[in-house]
Amino acid sequence: MLKIGSKKINTNIFLAPLSGCADLSFRLIAREHGAEFCFYEMFDSNSLARNSGTKFKDMIQKHPKDLPIAAQILGSDSEIMLKGAKTLLELNNHISFLDINAACPIRKVIKKKSGAYLLKEPELLYRIIDKLSSTLPLPITVKMRVGYQIIDIKNIIDIAKNCEQNGAKALFVHGRTKSQLYSGKVDYNSIKAIKDNVKIPVIASGNIFSPQQAKQTIEATGCNGVIVARGAFGNPWIFNQIKCLLEKGIILPDPTLKEKLAVLIKHLQYLEKYKMLAPKNRIGFARKVAIWYFKNFKNAAVLRGGVGKIQSFEELYKLIDSLLLLPD
Ligand SMILES: Cc1cc2nc3c(=O)[nH]c(=O)nc-3n(C[C@H](O)[C@H](O)[C@H](O)COP(=O)(O)O)c2cc1C
Repeated sequence: MLKIGSKKINTNIFLAPLSGCADLSFRLIAREHGAEFCFYEMFDSNSLARNSGTKFKDMIQKHPKDLPIAAQILGSDSEIMLKGAKTLLELNNHISFLDINAACPIRKVIKKKSGAYLLKEPELLYRIIDKLSSTLPLPITVKMRVGYQIIDIKNIIDIAKNCEQNGAKALFVHGRTKSQLYSGKVDYNSIKAIKDNVKIPVIASGNIFSPQQAKQTIEATGCNGVIVARGAFGNPWIFNQIKCLLEKGIILPDPTLKEKLAVLIKHLQYLEKYKMLAPKNRIGFARKVAIWYFKNFKNAAVLRGGVGKIQSFEELYKLIDSLLLLPD
């Protein structure tokens, strides 16, 4: 159990905010396999402030089984962040806490002085935290990296402490720098240094692809929990596996091929039901999801090629039916 500001969180394993991936279907499948706390996909504060949220119909969908949940916003101007956050909270009053993105390394985001850029000019970040936490009725948290270009432990401790002093109620820390993007070593020492220097919960992120990696991350950093990100692509079983290892010391077996295909079918059915995209884009999204599940299959490369040509859900289900005939 964790406390983030006034909110009690019943787990220390989180499904990450994953732009363009962790939509309602993804989250429902994750929750059916043990994910107890999820994030919406990230919201851009500029778009929220401009469009009164009309653009976000797909992302903001509410579902009784999709709780508890947090939201993350991106931006760099404290006034626009506040306006965007208010729009978001008007659309959805089920959000447990609001996270500020200080982690995204994408060039077009950095150019707008948002995401991981906030670590380069942290005064912007402190202003946002202060503004949001002193105005909004829910806890404010920060998702950050351990550095911008290089790791400077003293500097990152200073940033973490200032986040706390300005009102952040938890820190989600990806143990890579902005320059590393998504590859290379995860620096457990920096996450540990942050954890040792703040009183608020610190939740670690980076290379959580197995229950053993989750356990090892917690042991190496002393942090309060972990965020599962790419490790959940086509692999919702990871949530129960982590929980079982942390709580009971048991390693649950990986799913069989047939189990994977059955869950993929369910995931696709949720997409058909919930995904608010034009038909062409919907099938494109479904192809991406199918490829995640096919990752460790024999002939995965050939399968990927085949999936790439698929134009309808019917064709995709036919392909899955043909795979179900294969031996495990
Ligand atoms: C496709 C994709 C989308 C992501 N979107 C977000 C996002 O919107 N907000 C965020 O804070 N992190 C985002 N992340 C970063 C993850 O939350 C996580 O910190 C990172 O992938 C490291 O964890 P991993 O090595 O276990 O995947 C994204 C990562 C990926 C691969």
